[in-house]
Amino acid sequence: MTAPEFIDIPPLLAARGTVRLPGSKSISNRILLLAALSQGVTEIRDLLHSDDTQCMLDGLRTLGVSVEALGDNAYRVTGCGGKFPVREAKLFLGNAGTAFRPLTAVLALADGHYELSGVARMHERPIADLVGGLRDLGADIRYLDNEGFPPLEIHSARLSGVARVSVRGDVSSQFLTALLMALPLLDHEVTVDVEGELISKPYIEITLAMMARFGVTVRRDGWRSFTVTAGSRYVSPGVIYVEGDASSASYFLAAGAIGRGPVRIEGVGSASIQGDVRFADALALMGAQIEMGANWMEARAPQSGKLKALDLDCNHIPDAAMTLAVVALFAEGTTTLRNIASWRVKETDRIHAMATELRKLGATVEEGADYIRVTPSATGYKLPATSPAIDTYDDHRMAMCFSLAALGGVGVRINDPQCVAKTFPDYFEHFAKVVRAVPVIAIDGPSASGKGTVAQLAAAQLGFHYLDSGALYRLLALAAQQHGVALDAESQLAELAAHMDIRFEGTDIWLDGERVGDELRSEQCAAMASRVAVLPMVRAALLDKQRAFRRAPGLVADGRDMASVVFPDAGLKVFLTASAEARAERRYKQLMEKGMGLMEKGMGASIAALLQDIRARDERDSKRSVAPLQQVPGAGLLDTTDLTIEQAVQEVLARVRRQMTDDR
Ligand code: DC
Repeated sequence: MTAPEFIDIPPLLAARGTVRLPGSKSISNRILLLAALSQGVTEIRDLLHSDDTQCMLDGLRTLGVSVEALGDNAYRVTGCGGKFPVREAKLFLGNAGTAFRPLTAVLALADGHYELSGVARMHERPIADLVGGLRDLGADIRYLDNEGFPPLEIHSARLSGVARVSVRGDVSSQFLTALLMALPLLDHEVTVDVEGELISKPYIEITLAMMARFGVTVRRDGWRSFTVTAGSRYVSPGVIYVEGDASSASYFLAAGAIGRGPVRIEGVGSASIQGDVRFADALALMGAQIEMGANWMEARAPQSGKLKALDLDCNHIPDAAMTLAVVALFAEGTTTLRNIASWRVKETDRIHAMATELRKLGATVEEGADYIRVTPSATGYKLPATSPAIDTYDDHRMAMCFSLAALGGVGVRINDPQCVAKTFPDYFEHFAKVVRAVPVIAIDGPSASGKGTVAQLAAAQLGFHYLDSGALYRLLALAAQQHGVALDAESQLAELAAHMDIRFEGTDIWLDGERVGDELRSEQCAAMASRVAVLPMVRAALLDKQRAFRRAPGLVADGRDMASVVFPDAGLKVFLTASAEARAERRYKQLMEKGMGLMEKGMGASIAALLQDIRARDERDSKRSVAPLQQVPGAGLLDTTDLTIEQAVQEVLARVRRQMTDDR
């Protein structure tokens, strides 16, 4: 199966529900490595299943560690007591920093010959500070490509017995984590001094807590130095559970804060060892209502209804802070996120990526070496007429963050959505379960069935927007006529469809700045529309234009393929029809009212001619290969042959009410 190029998130009205979080990436990969280095067998429960944990699992297996999948996210790891059975191996570790850095440290202090590489981006992420510390301890590490960056070649260490090494703390906390996790492999005591301000301190807390669970207590002097005493050895704790991922929780909490809520996440809470749970405090500062228990958190919108901007040092929540940058789109004022220099050396240059994509959503963004400042557009959260396409830079957090933008009531397209697999493979499925899309009522049916009138009246009663999709095909036919484009010149017509400027204002319709008159409703125009509508490229070109009509609070759309193609997720689907004879009569009356009747032939002959036309058009609309007129599964039939317009409208509204009760 090939990965989809993009996912379209429909405009969203609200978020509400409960999500059970997948396991934490940071904890999963630490536990896997510690279990492998331990004496004894460890059973790990609730392990995260993702690209990054797969990198660690594959790496450990390549090193000869027995890792057995028990099903239901449980694994049994047989520890190798600090000595990997395989002494010569090449490891490919993707873009998983939580696998690459600690494995580098552990293998560098071991006795073997190894090569470690990753994806191109991994080879751009610095590692010199870690390598420097390891070399001081006697490691033999060579850069295979660029000095200071992976890939690396490691030969057996000639241990120096050095008792003090230093490592920089201000580039990535993973360097310190990696060193600390590897030190119990040595026989002597080693102290690590941290140079510069240590960033992402909560991740060091996770490291220390996990090492303690495996029997190694690190002595520390605040955040300045850490000592692993001689004789420290990892011992399996037997069974260990992985907490839910607090960084992943941020997207759902943010959804609750933006989209009314409440959204509840289960798997992390106040008892968590992960620093990113503090994201909830940041949301509270923005006005969100937060509740929390040991193992759960819940967010809902501010009582005032409006989130406020904030100015925050984000050193303690580097990953979850990205989510705040998108929440800033929904907040009053300018949000400044400070002390986030580490964003620049993550999966991508996150400061730059975030700034670029936020600008697509109309925000004014200032980007600094270690900060980002976001001001939503002055007119509130406004998006262009069609969904903006968000690029994700092979960064799972970009994809997850920007899914929240759809809560602005206009859909977003997320490119390369598969990148979420790094930490949260089924993110979009979980997201879809807690959000409520702007509702669509799709009314499809044949020509002259009265669906347009019924749809328009239903929309007015519900206070919803209305889309007359047939008008787009008719407008294209008119535009083709004006530009002298033949009705079967597919690519030219598609080009025209993509560029025509259409505007609906009440019952008035504008094409390229000119108001369109009754010619749009003529039989001739309908016949031309039916011809251009068979062309697949034309239909594709009109797709986004039609979807752009879906806006809060809702949409009633009529046409032929509303339920099947344009809004397959429509909450209510109606197939509205009437006998061909009834339709011919209705069309005749309509034309007479507009003074466009075929008077010269007399009424009987006119109706007969209309009946013939209608049958021909039915045939063409239902037999064409793309998006044929059909009653799709899930669409309820509404035969209006014996109904008045008012009765038909009431029936549609009754179905809407029933649907809403079912959804509750
Ligand atoms: O609904 P209408 O009569 O305005 O439609 C005009 C033509 O456009 C009709 O022949 C079928 C085509 N059409 C379509 O193919 N798909 C739609 N969603 C709407 C109309």
